[in-house]
Amino acid sequence: MQVPFLDLKAQHDPLRAELEAAIREVIDSSAFAGGPFVTRFEEDFGAYCGTPYAIGLGNGTDALWLSLIALGICAGDEVITVPMTFMATAEAISYCGAKPVFVDIDERTYTMDPRLLERAITPRTKAIIPVHLFGQCADMDPILEIARRHGLPVIEDACQAHGAEYKGRKAGSLGVAGCFSFYPGKNLGAFGEAGAVVTANEDLRNKIQMLRDHGQAKKYHHAVIGWNARMDGIQGAVLRIKLKHLTNANEARRGNARLYNQHLAGLVEVTTPAEAEYARHVYHLYVVRVRNRDHILQALANR
Ligand SMILES: Cc1ncc(COP(=O)(O)O)c(C=O)c1O
Repeated sequence: MQVPFLDLKAQHDPLRAELEAAIREVIDSSAFAGGPFVTRFEEDFGAYCGTPYAIGLGNGTDALWLSLIALGICAGDEVITVPMTFMATAEAISYCGAKPVFVDIDERTYTMDPRLLERAITPRTKAIIPVHLFGQCADMDPILEIARRHGLPVIEDACQAHGAEYKGRKAGSLGVAGCFSFYPGKNLGAFGEAGAVVTANEDLRNKIQMLRDHGQAKKYHHAVIGWNARMDGIQGAVLRIKLKHLTNANEARRGNARLYNQHLAGLVEVTTPAEAEYARHVYHLYVVRVRNRDHILQALANR
């Protein structure tokens, strides 16, 4: 039996009629760049995350980068994050001219270890980016408490954590900004590239809205130097349909994870993922640790 790493066709087949109708609507109205389909998705995704605002963007890297720019991060600043993440987290920091400063992860949850955070803070530190890796939130309360004491904003990298929860609150709604990627393979994936920032901060929302659209507050009135980081209409329409199914899809992932946990429980060689007491893990990836990784990888590939 072939077990593909990711089967998007199986995910989309049951939704095909709905998705095709949504795309047809975008074609019929020619609202391809930004526009009403993006706005409607922003409203729905903000409500889903429990934040007043969502800003649709071109991808998750834009979400991180523009959040940092909007918070005034620039050359000479330091931004604390984790080394155990996808490249884009540190890349967005570097792209602002700032220096990524790495705080190691907790061995159990693979997310920022709050016990190591405070000693990494210097007078140059301007922000903290915990990463909700593999679908599980970092331990946000102690991180937010340290950040508050030092007057530092916390940006959540929630690019792998759509619908994950921390003490009953959704990933993305805990810091000043939550950054999401809707890369096709994500728990909530577009039909191409897309991303978003969610926030309760109106000023930040306004700044990111301007930055994604060449610094325009009004058409052809360019108040600041921005970029083109808008979300496509087709992505907004597709994501709005798929968002309605996210809760069920995440529940199915949790069911699969329980099954794997049961079957792997007897193997001392395998460390299965741990769900922290505070967390609702959404298993973007089900990652195990083994000593002889390459050997096991090869054996699985052979089978
Ligand atoms: C943790 C993390 N941060 C940032 C990103 C960047 O998102 P995108 O690929 O949409 O730019 C990703 C995407 O894989 C990610 O997994």
